[in-house]
Amino acid sequence: MEMIGFAFLLLGLVSPISVASRIQASSELLDFEALNCRKHSAVLTQFGGKGDGKTSNTNAFQSAISQLSKVASDGGAQLIVPPGRWLTGSFNLTSHFTLYIHKDAVILASQDESEWPLIKPLPSYGRGRDDSGARFISLISGTNLTDVVITGGNGTIDGQGAIWWQKFKNKQLQNTRPYLIEIMFSTQVQISNLTLLNSPSWNVHPVYCSDVIIQGLTIRAPVDSPNTDGINPDSCSNVRIQDCDVVSGDDCIAVKSGWDEYGIAFGMPTQQLIIRRFTCVSPYSAAIALGSEMSGGIRDVRAEDITAVTTESAVRIKTAVGRGAYVKDIYVKGVTMHTMKYVFWMTGNYGEHPDNGYDPKALPVIENINYRDMTAENVTIAGHLEGINGDPFTGICVSNVTIGMSSVKSKKGPWNCTDVSGVSSKVSPQPCSLLPEKQPGTIVPCAYPEDKLPIDNVQLKTCSAIV
Ligand SMILES: *[C@@H]1O[C@H](CO)[C@@H](O)[C@H](O)[C@H]1NC(C)=O
Ligand SMILES: *[C@@H]1O[C@H](CO)[C@@H](O)[C@H](O)[C@H]1NC(C)=O
Ligand SMILES: *[C@@H]1O[C@H](CO)[C@@H](O)[C@H](O)[C@H]1NC(C)=O
Ligand SMILES: *[C@@H]1O[C@H](CO)[C@@H](O)[C@H](O)[C@H]1NC(C)=O
Ligand SMILES: *[C@@H]1O[C@H](CO)[C@@H](O)[C@H](O)[C@H]1NC(C)=O
Ligand SMILES: *[C@@H]1O[C@H](CO)[C@@H](O)[C@H](O)[C@H]1NC(C)=O
Ligand SMILES: *[C@@H]1O[C@H](CO)[C@@H](O)[C@H](O)[C@H]1NC(C)=O
Repeated sequence: MEMIGFAFLLLGLVSPISVASRIQASSELLDFEALNCRKHSAVLTQFGGKGDGKTSNTNAFQSAISQLSKVASDGGAQLIVPPGRWLTGSFNLTSHFTLYIHKDAVILASQDESEWPLIKPLPSYGRGRDDSGARFISLISGTNLTDVVITGGNGTIDGQGAIWWQKFKNKQLQNTRPYLIEIMFSTQVQISNLTLLNSPSWNVHPVYCSDVIIQGLTIRAPVDSPNTDGINPDSCSNVRIQDCDVVSGDDCIAVKSGWDEYGIAFGMPTQQLIIRRFTCVSPYSAAIALGSEMSGGIRDVRAEDITAVTTESAVRIKTAVGRGAYVKDIYVKGVTMHTMKYVFWMTGNYGEHPDNGYDPKALPVIENINYRDMTAENVTIAGHLEGINGDPFTGICVSNVTIGMSSVKSKKGPWNCTDVSGVSSKVSPQPCSLLPEKQPGTIVPCAYPEDKLPIDNVQLKTCSAIV
């Protein structure tokens, strides 16, 4: 790693004495895992950064990354955020680049709206989600990148979102709230070993990306904060989400692919997604939601080793007439649940259209949905599976599932199924008649793919940062 030489060469401003004394004063060598290690390394303070929690570091981040982008084709660079509290507005990442956030560093999102420039709506949504206007750009943003890493020894990004939640609830915003991290049209993306707090809205939004690794994230927002989804893979391919732990005010993971006529026209699915070793608390939402925006299609999603405690549902499919496309080839196994309204929930009349231009003939195809090896306790409703009249959800399979009902169980019975078809095997309480027992007396397991997704062949390298 070329450290001093690079800083000296690139930044006439930095004297060799200050660099040398910095390295002498604190020579902490930290190892971390990344897609690629970088030839060049720099620290935010070399670009005028001040970690006092008060001074805006927007210029420091932007000029650091702009300088470091010049070595993208010469081995790339890493920017280290050292211990301190680093207030900042939005900044953009670059290719062949690593942002390393030290365990004692906190990136604090500015609460000043002027620090968040506006950008256009996403093409697959046609408008902002909160409002028909523009979107505030996300705190950490990246477009058209290759090989970008955001990681740390569990360093923190604090969105300080309370002011945004309040403005949203009071309808004081003309534009859609920012996210904490949004990476668009990029490939080879890693977001790992971070704590994300109090996002103004969604936390992590990879959109139109491929080859994405998200792991070791701790995400926290109040359970009543609006739309603080944890991780939203959106029109992305070949994605791995593992070892993450979310407590939030909306779906812990929401898999998406665009909205009604805009999503159908854009036509980019989310596919080849694996979620493993995932924990969720979210009393009013799902551990894993598929939709409701799914108009580019969602297929080949695998989820295993999931723990959901106090969530409204475990895996939920949300769709509507007008969405078109499909949710198919979904495989879930090994889910442990405690205190839920629904274990299984599918909703075909979710509604929420971007505008009146949606096509009422665009019916979503929901098929080949497999759920197995699950236990749940203290559940109100085992399954509410609601397809679309004239467009049934088909190929639903549920096997080896034991659901303990709470004493306040629904008077209407544990299952309610309409416009769906499928099979069950060794499920208690006994499913609705639309999911008949496949072979009474034996467990016939629902499908789960044996092959590996290509993202699981990616080996991370051990890199280091001198802080
Ligand atoms: C960041 O990228 C967006 C495009 O996604 C652009 O509109 C914005 O001007 C960029 N910001 C800076 C500071 O370069
Ligand atoms: C991303 O690439 C597209 C297509 O090459 C281009 O039109 C667009 O301006 C680029 N956006 C940014 C922010 O680099
Ligand atoms: C990261 O920090 C969060 C917040 O302090 C903590 O809850 C979590 O356990 C930490 N994760 C790891 C892997 O150390
Ligand atoms: C990152 O988190 C993983 C768990 O996802 C853990 O095994 C690994 O040790 C962590 N690495 C660092 C550098 O903190
Ligand atoms: C069971 O669920 C109900 C909500 O339906 C909740 O109020 C109660 O605390 C839960 N009981 C336990 C033991 O977790
Ligand atoms: C049934 O599911 C449990 C987990 O809930 C698992 O431990 C067990 O191995 C499964 N049994 C079969 C026959 O697959
Ligand atoms: C079953 O669910 C449908 C909506 O999907 C609802 O209209 C109906 O009332 C429910 N039936 C029972 C018995 O709860």
